[in-house]
Amino acid sequence: MQTMEAIRARRNVRKYKAEAVPREQIERLLEAAMLAPSAVNSRPWEFVVTDKREILQRLTEAHPASRMLLTASWAIAVCGRPDLQPKHNFWQQDCAAAAENILLAAADMGLGTCWCGCYPAEPRTSEVQKVLGVTSVPVALIAVGVPDEAPAQKGFYDPSRVTFL
Ligand SMILES: Cc1cc2nc3c(=O)[nH]c(=O)nc-3n(C[C@H](O)[C@H](O)[C@H](O)COP(=O)(O)O)c2cc1C
Repeated sequence: MQTMEAIRARRNVRKYKAEAVPREQIERLLEAAMLAPSAVNSRPWEFVVTDKREILQRLTEAHPASRMLLTASWAIAVCGRPDLQPKHNFWQQDCAAAAENILLAAADMGLGTCWCGCYPAEPRTSEVQKVLGVTSVPVALIAVGVPDEAPAQKGFYDPSRVTFL
């Protein structure tokens, strides 16, 4: 798939087939994440990945808009490490770039994903942090699975939001 095709094909999918996504595919998504740009190449992130039903269930209790994790095959938590970027405060943006790379790589592979935002919303960020057992900052929980729905495209090009100077 060409890059622009993957960008057009990507949707947030909230219903998945009861089919396991192999770990090797998840590792490709993590490779895509870690190929994202980061300020001064500080790579201020870490990733917590699970396919354990019990943990997925607890994540849905910690995050109020993540029920799709109940049918997802995996969750990938993109967590920020501000300690790796002491002179700057771009870690949230770096994590968002990594998250978007996961979504696009997944679309390219025919997988469905849903981005569930954490930081800076509270108490979900602290609650997700507790479930994951990390001190890094959860920025996004990404559900990954084999899609069982094909939502309509929501994004569109809006020239009124563009100024050419
Ligand atoms: C920062 C961020 C946080 C989001 N949080 C949630 C969430 O908690 N739960 C959810 O179901 N979708 C969440 N979404 C997905 C958006 O609702 C979705 O991207 C938007 O409706 C556009 O749909 P599309 O991605 O299919 O084009 C989030 C998206 C972003 C970028």
